Amino acid sequence: MCGIVGYVGHRPALDVVLAGLRRLEYRGYDSAGVALPHEGGLAVERKAGALVNLETRLDEVGRDTFTGTAGIGHTRWATHGPPTDRNAHPHRSGVIDGGKTAVVHNGIIENYLPLRAELEAQDIWAESDTDSEIAAHLVALAYAGRAADPSTKGDLTASVRSVALRLEGAFTLVVTHADEPDTIVAARRSSPLVLGLGEGETFLASDVAAFIEFTRDAVELGQDQVVTITRDGYDVTDFRGETVAVSPFEVTWDLAAAEKGGHDYFMLKEIEEQPTAIADTLRGHLVDGRIVLDEQRLTDQDLRDVDKVFVVACGTAYHSGLLAKYAIEHWTRLPVEIEVASEFRYRDPVLDRSTLVVAISQSGETADTLEALRHAKEQKARVLAICNTNGAQIPRESDAVIYTHAGPEIGVAATKTFTAQVAANYLVGLALAQARGTKYPDEVVREFHELEAAPKAVETVLESLGEARALGQLLADSKAVLFLGRHVGYPVALEGALKLKELAYMHAEAFAAGELKHGPIALIEPGLPVIVVMPSPKGRAVLHSKLLSNIQEIKARGARTVVLAEAGDETVKPFADHLFELPPISTLLQPLVATVPLQVIAAEIARARGYDVDKPRNLAKSVTVE
Ligand code: F6R
Repeated sequence: MCGIVGYVGHRPALDVVLAGLRRLEYRGYDSAGVALPHEGGLAVERKAGALVNLETRLDEVGRDTFTGTAGIGHTRWATHGPPTDRNAHPHRSGVIDGGKTAVVHNGIIENYLPLRAELEAQDIWAESDTDSEIAAHLVALAYAGRAADPSTKGDLTASVRSVALRLEGAFTLVVTHADEPDTIVAARRSSPLVLGLGEGETFLASDVAAFIEFTRDAVELGQDQVVTITRDGYDVTDFRGETVAVSPFEVTWDLAAAEKGGHDYFMLKEIEEQPTAIADTLRGHLVDGRIVLDEQRLTDQDLRDVDKVFVVACGTAYHSGLLAKYAIEHWTRLPVEIEVASEFRYRDPVLDRSTLVVAISQSGETADTLEALRHAKEQKARVLAICNTNGAQIPRESDAVIYTHAGPEIGVAATKTFTAQVAANYLVGLALAQARGTKYPDEVVREFHELEAAPKAVETVLESLGEARALGQLLADSKAVLFLGRHVGYPVALEGALKLKELAYMHAEAFAAGELKHGPIALIEPGLPVIVVMPSPKGRAVLHSKLLSNIQEIKARGARTVVLAEAGDETVKPFADHLFELPPISTLLQPLVATVPLQVIAAEIARARGYDVDKPRNLAKSVTVE
C-alpha cells in the first residue's frame, strides 16, 4: 500500500513521476503528491483523492516551477489520519528548514508517538495526523546538524541513514532536499523498493510497473538498506553505511502487460488472462516426467521429512489455500492446516522443523503473511512461498519459492493471481505426493497433464462471459446475495462472496451448504439470490446429491437460485432459476473454472452500480500493515 516514485535524469521529472504514480495508483488512491527541486527550494503539490485531482491542481496552479529533472511522488493508502490534503505526502518541515526537505513514506512508523513527543519537546509541531511527517522533521534536523549526532550535517544520505536507524516498523522513505537537487535518497525496511537503471537516468519505485516504460534493468533493494541515486547511477549501503551487494534483474514483462489492452478495466483484462496465467505458472515444473518445485532449495528429502503442512495467507490467497488443503490431503495423506495469516502467530500454532509452512501471497508484501512466516521460521518450520512478485519480501525470507507467473495484476481485486495460486498449490501437492510415494509417478504426471489442460476449460468459460454479465445485471439491484458450495465448491463460494463485497459493496455471505440447516437458512426469504456452486455429477456422486437437496431446500423457501453446474447436468435444471454451465473438469480442478463467472458477476454488479471496478473503496493492492 502506498506507491512511491523517485527520478533523477534528463527528462522532465514531473512527467516521469506522474506516469509512475498512474501505474502505482492501485497501491492506494486516497491522495497524491509530488516534490521537485526548483531554484534552491522545492516545488510541492499534494491533493486528496485520486491522482487526477493532483493533476487538475497542477494545471490550476501552473506547472512553471515543476520543470526540473529530479523529483519524488506518492500515492497514498491512508493509515494514520484521514485522506485529506493536509495528510497527503510529501511531508516537509517548515519550522526546521523552511520546507527544503520533502519525504514520502510507505508503511507504518510504529514508534512515531514517542518520536513526535521528542519533537514537540523541541517546539517542533506536526502539521498532519500522519506518522510519516515525523520522518520529514527528523531528516531535516539531521541535515541541519541539529540531531544528537551532528556529523550528518549537510549530508542527505547520512541524514536518512541516521533517521532509518531510529524508526521502528515498516517503511520505505524517499527523500529529496533542495540543497542536493540532483540526488534522491531512499531507505527501506519491510516495504518494497526497486531501482530502475537507464542511460543517464535512475528511477526508484515501489514496483517496476512505475518505470517499465523507460527501462527493464532493475535492482531489488534488500531489507534495511539505503540507496542514493543520481542520474549516473546508485550507491547502496546498510543503515550503518556499510556497502552491500545487490542483485540486479531484468523485468521480463512489458508495458502492454500493465496496460488495459482495450478493456474498460484492468480487472476485466486480468480475468481474461487467466488461461495464460495458469499455463505460465505450470510451465517448466514437469521435467523428465517429474514435478520440479524449486530443486535447489527444497529437495525430495526435505519433502519426505515433512509430517504436517500449514498454509497461511489472507483474503483471496487464503481461499486458494483452502483448496490446497483438499488437494494436498487427498494426494499425500499429510495433515494440512490452514489459517488466515493475521491470526496465525497470535495463537501459538504447533510447528517444528518437520512442518512445511506454505505462505501464499500475490504481492509478497502482505504484512500479516510476512509476520506469520517469520513466526514459522522462529519455530524452525520450513517455509515455501507462493508469490507473484519477483524478489518481494515474502519469497526473500522463505526457504523456497514457487512463482505464479500471472504477470502484473493492477485491478485491486485478485483474479488471475487466484487461479495461478491454485495451480501452484496443486504443484506443491503433487511434488509432495511424488517425493513421499503416495502417488505412483505416472499418476502424478497424469494429474499434472490434467492441470495443464485446465486453461483450455477456462477459455471455454470465457466464451460465455456474456451470460455471466447478464446474470450480474439481473442481480445488480439485490440487497444481499448468499453463496453455497460443498467440498472445493465451498472456497469458490467464499471467493465469490468476497469479490461481491469488495467490488459491489454488497452484503454477501458464503456457507458450506451443509451448514445451512444449522442457522443460515433463516436468512432465506422470497427473492433472495443464492448462488450455488454445484459439483460435477460424474465426480463424487454423494456431493452432488447432497447439494441437490440443499438447492431444493432453499428453493422451497422462495430463494432465487443461480446455479453453476456442469454442462449437461439435467438434474439441477428444475431447481435453477438461472443456470450457468461449466465445462466438465475433475472435481479438484473445478474451482479454476467455477470462480471465473463469479468474478465477472461481481464486476458487472459493481459496474451497474457505478463503482470503479479497479479501485474499490478503502482497499489497496498490497497491504503492508497488520
Ligand atoms: C481480494 C484481494 C485480497 C488479497 C489479500 C492478500 O481480491 O485481493 O483479499 O488476496 O489482501 O494479498 P496478497 O496475496 O498480496 O498477500
